[in-house]
Amino acid sequence: MKIIQTDLLCVGAGLAGERVAIEAADNGFSVICLSIVPARRSHSSAAQGGMQAALGNSAMGEGDSPDVHFADTVKGSDWGCDQEVARLFVDAAPIAMRQMAFWGVPWNRVVPGEQTYYKGGKPFTAFEKPENEGLIHSRNFGGTAKWRTCYTSDGTGHCVLYTLDNRAAQMGVSVIDKVEAIALIHDGDTCMGVIARCLKTGELTAYLAKATLIATGGFGRIYRESTNAVICDGGGLITALDTGVVPLGNMEAVQFHPTGIVPTDILVTEGCRGDGGTLLDKNEYRFMPDYEPDKAELASRDVVSRRMTEHMRKGLGVPSPYGDHLWLDIRHLGEAHIRTKLREVDEICQSFLGVDPVYQLIPVRPTQHYSMGGVRTNKDGAAYGLKGLFSAGESACWDMHGFNRLGGNSLAETVVAGMIIGGKIVEFLKGSETVIKTASVRDAMDKQNARIADLVACKNGSENPYTVRNAMFDSIMKGAGIFRNGKDLETCVAELQEILGRARRVGLRSNGKGANPELTMALKIEGMVKLALCVAYGALKRTESRGAHTREDFPERNDRDWLTRTLATWADGADLPTLNYEPATHVFEMPPGDRGYGGGKIIPMNG
Ligand code: FUM
Repeated sequence: MKIIQTDLLCVGAGLAGERVAIEAADNGFSVICLSIVPARRSHSSAAQGGMQAALGNSAMGEGDSPDVHFADTVKGSDWGCDQEVARLFVDAAPIAMRQMAFWGVPWNRVVPGEQTYYKGGKPFTAFEKPENEGLIHSRNFGGTAKWRTCYTSDGTGHCVLYTLDNRAAQMGVSVIDKVEAIALIHDGDTCMGVIARCLKTGELTAYLAKATLIATGGFGRIYRESTNAVICDGGGLITALDTGVVPLGNMEAVQFHPTGIVPTDILVTEGCRGDGGTLLDKNEYRFMPDYEPDKAELASRDVVSRRMTEHMRKGLGVPSPYGDHLWLDIRHLGEAHIRTKLREVDEICQSFLGVDPVYQLIPVRPTQHYSMGGVRTNKDGAAYGLKGLFSAGESACWDMHGFNRLGGNSLAETVVAGMIIGGKIVEFLKGSETVIKTASVRDAMDKQNARIADLVACKNGSENPYTVRNAMFDSIMKGAGIFRNGKDLETCVAELQEILGRARRVGLRSNGKGANPELTMALKIEGMVKLALCVAYGALKRTESRGAHTREDFPERNDRDWLTRTLATWADGADLPTLNYEPATHVFEMPPGDRGYGGGKIIPMNG
């Protein structure tokens, strides 16, 4: 058996994984990052609009503070977040942004004097103070009281990832790419590393580690229409769920971004609306102020996505061969702005739509974008259920986002959580030794070899893994999309249970050797369907509407019964997850109240 040993093993080499890796390497520990793609192709690189941090350097950010950021984040989460974690995050975010600048991120900077900005399609002038010249600038994003999103044009994820990847290389972090973790090595008590499969050769290796971090991003690709890269299929979460002892938190909390382009579902950033872009219907009428007079296009994402869907349901969407859509209009921002500060949007529109956004409208619709749920951790990033296992970034339910994440808060989370959790992992590495049990390693390796042999021999059946995946796509979007109801969710759960049976009967047409995408899919399809069931079953049981979880049959946010976080575990051989609940937060720095946008009734805690 091939064995490689390290102090810290990061599964995933996107922003969260690399930021944690840097912290550990900086403290003298050996670190390996495993990645299914070259680190710079991680999905973090697709993040466009920016990172929220209360720096207050720009005219429209004046008066901002971590307290204001905290209030926005808690309201954004619809009081579903862990307020202790939200507080840790907002306090550390300004430090993290300055650290990124020091490491080389080319943030857009304050240009002093009178500047023309746009809000809701209309220009206005603001005065940038001379004493702030050259400080990190910020743009507007949804659900915020201040302009707080630090940005590098609309290629923020790209710039920060390249910077961190350079830093990781300087610190001696070893990134092994085209390798996929397919199982955790554990004894039910302690995590000892992973069994990973080389995507080029098919070879299995046991990576042993004192600490193992899951930082594999979201699971958006259990939906067909998603802004997520195809690699965002929940791989890390599947390995955690498979242990039977590590719970996933709030899986029913799935975010839909208002502006995926039609038909490819690629993101065009919230920065378009932050910089003054508007949403128009088939009559080129700006409809959002009718629904949300105060925030309009810049209410939180859950609200804007719902309002867009409502508007299209009224027959006011633009018909297209790919279904109805709406228009995003940024033409008024002008060529100079679009070709510089929105240049990725410009390129995406030109390359994938043949649309020049300087002159033409952009077809958009709400599209799956972010997973608030993930591997449940405590505030130190330690997973529940297994010692030595941690998670950070989108793969984790840390949980600063609750039931709706604010735009710009997740990209910031990657580097802030990376810094905080990285520090906690360093303490863990300094304070303990992990006993590696050879029997656990051997069992884990034997189990994976046996799984592969069974798939190659079609021992359990010959279902095509891609057909099974397509059936899951059809079911989850119908039942657990933007609007949900008990009847559709029950149907969805029943369908997914049947699909799970089929997933357990997949077999290969190929011989499974070498670089083999069919085997890669066959190995994970059962886990993907289980994730879909965690979403749908969690959504069925949560009989309220909170943030992105909208039940048409339970329209109230119910603080009396549901100020809780869902924990899903999966017992061996079961057809459904086991759901338990814990309080959403133990500390109410900000007691539940009205978000100030989005409407909707609230059943109070004592109601
Ligand atoms: O719209 C965006 O630029 C996406 C940002 C985010 O998801 O935070």
